[in-house]
Amino acid sequence: MKRPYVYLAGVGRWAPPRILRNDEFASMGLDTNDAWIVQRTGIRERHIAGPAENNRTMSAAASRMAMERAGVHPGEIDLIVLGTASPDHLLPSTAVELQAELGASRAAAFDICAACSSWLYGLIVAEGLMMSGSAETALVVGTEKLSSIVDWKDRSTAVLFGDGAGAAILRRSKHGKGILSTYFRSDGTLAPLLHRRAGGAAQPFDEHALHDRSFYIEMEGREVFKHAVRSMSDACDRALDGARMTGADIDLLIPHQANVRIIEATAKHAGIPMEKVFVNVDRYGNTSSASVPMALEEAMAAGRVTDGSTVLLVAFGAGFTWASLVIRF
Ligand code: UT7
Repeated sequence: MKRPYVYLAGVGRWAPPRILRNDEFASMGLDTNDAWIVQRTGIRERHIAGPAENNRTMSAAASRMAMERAGVHPGEIDLIVLGTASPDHLLPSTAVELQAELGASRAAAFDICAACSSWLYGLIVAEGLMMSGSAETALVVGTEKLSSIVDWKDRSTAVLFGDGAGAAILRRSKHGKGILSTYFRSDGTLAPLLHRRAGGAAQPFDEHALHDRSFYIEMEGREVFKHAVRSMSDACDRALDGARMTGADIDLLIPHQANVRIIEATAKHAGIPMEKVFVNVDRYGNTSSASVPMALEEAMAAGRVTDGSTVLLVAFGAGFTWASLVIRF
């Protein structure tokens, strides 16, 4: 088992105030209803960013909360790793926009694009850079304005996603607390199951993309569902093995919040009862990179993660990518 080298010194969250309820989709012209969405996904509402809100503003709010809780000033941060699938600009990274916004003048900053696994990938990358001596105080952020890349005319995806941000400050571990094990993997052969065809260099945005709406998220939901359960189950096993633990040792499972049925299947596989699983997909929908850090912050605020808690984080997303960590708080 790896000795804990890095711990989470403070966690923050921010979600835009505008809440979009399931029953509002009908008035937007979508052939859907609250009963279908709740039964198939567990989602009841999601937060949607307004025109003045973007990943810079949302991630800055979440980061400031994490920094305040960790007692860290912007000048102390020497690494910013930001996960997002909906960057504010294609160039430069959203991480440097956050670096400027926070005034983190000593920080190296870059984005990670591993879709819904991005924040977990970010923790793993930041841990590695801290272990190698390249950084001492890292800010790891997950932020999404998915409402800007969702096709609001496609009922199979529009009902699923939401906006928000979560963040954590990482510092050198003390008293045996911190990251106990990590695991991350990918399978790019499955990329077409969840992607945006146009808008990048391979298929630049043009009139055709505007017409066929190929610059929005497209997903084969049923196929993604199967892979999500399989990969998140595997990831739980691997992180538990790495920490020499079983599901019985875990105080709280915080899975990626995409669909309550995926969460239930993953927890069952890991041998963790639903009382020990944190679920907030009902109130936020799928916020991709932001999903796990937002859930972690809510779990901590609700007193479900306390001093000494052992927590299993697991995520799965486009790519496909998947990742997991066991952390002692
Ligand atoms: O973030 C990581 C990646 N994303 C995920 O993990 C999402 C994984 N997938 C899922 O969560 C589920 O597959 C969905 C929630 C997306 C869909 O649920 P499903 O039970 O797999 O439904 P389905 O796609 O098989 O569709 C069943 C029916 C279809 O109608 P027919 O062909 O049976 O007549 C759909 O057209 O439901 C229809 N449908 C809807 N009906 C009402 C699809 N979307 C909607 C909707 N409202 N919003």
